[in-house]
Amino acid sequence: MSSSATIRHFLKDTDLTPAEQAEVLELAVRMKAAPYSVQPFAADGSGRKTVAVIFDKTSTRTRVSFATGVADMGGNALIINPGEAQIGHKESVEDTAKVLERMVSTIVWRTSAHSGLVAMAENSRVPVINALCDDYHPCQLLADLLTVKEHKGELKGVTMSYLGDAANNMANSYLLAGVTAGMHVRIAGPEGYLPAGDIVAAAEERAAETGGSVLITTDANAALEGADVVATDTWVSMGQEAEKEARLQLFREYSVDESAMALAAGDAVVLHCLPAYRGYEISAGVIDGPQSIVWDEAENRLHAQKALMAWLMHQSGLAAVDGLQPVAERV
Ligand code: CP
Ligand code: NVA
Repeated sequence: MSSSATIRHFLKDTDLTPAEQAEVLELAVRMKAAPYSVQPFAADGSGRKTVAVIFDKTSTRTRVSFATGVADMGGNALIINPGEAQIGHKESVEDTAKVLERMVSTIVWRTSAHSGLVAMAENSRVPVINALCDDYHPCQLLADLLTVKEHKGELKGVTMSYLGDAANNMANSYLLAGVTAGMHVRIAGPEGYLPAGDIVAAAEERAAETGGSVLITTDANAALEGADVVATDTWVSMGQEAEKEARLQLFREYSVDESAMALAAGDAVVLHCLPAYRGYEISAGVIDGPQSIVWDEAENRLHAQKALMAWLMHQSGLAAVDGLQPVAERV
């Protein structure tokens, strides 16, 4: 397996240009309708079958959707659970990358520090995919955008509001992926728990390109007013368990409950990446109610990630996907 094409990775939401994000989402729509139509990992003699899927943190959706998606596309998912490999305690990221890239077609990794993913990608001649880190959850946002597109018909111009821990991986990814799609993204959380300055600057730059916009606020009501999409996430992310009691107090005003939804548009839809904690960041009535699209959102992890893996293989010159422009012809 060799290629002169640049290897493409997906480490954060803005690694895809607006046109590329739209292309991945279109491919996801196509592959959702025809789940076995794209086979980048099939044993046809040209490509490798195995995808390494490494977890430093626990998972249900990410694990099942990558394993299922790789199998659907003719490959084999090698799932490495927390603590099972040498990486992180006996061996560096760099050395791990140099071994994996000799054997597998793609590396999918859920870890803590984004810098680890950057080091993995710098030492890999196969695509590296961020399956969640402390700063971003970009695969989740591809699924979320696909779900909003299905329910609202479009992304550009749609207002998407996120409430809660606005300094976590989901807040950052809602911001960056949303403006990449040309959405008006509002992020609300308490002082000290808002997106970092460099993330906001990157989002504003992207919004200027796409016609989207950015609002960062401590005022939950201002974020909710007339919103088309309302999103939230746990107030206690993986690794923050020691801060749980303080966090449950800190974010109380940012709960997505019935009174919050009364401020949003009447036909607003609700997203949550799951796992959800009913009675905290979201009420049972909202997540289990008619405006919730969280189960479509969870299913779309599968379809969006299949499209992403196939697209990255195609762009990297490691597989050809029918219907995508040949890499050599791209400007
Ligand atoms: N939403 C999400 O990534 O879920 P898991 O942690 O179960 O993979
Ligand atoms: N913010 C959450 C997302 C879980 C999918 C976490 O990092 O634990």
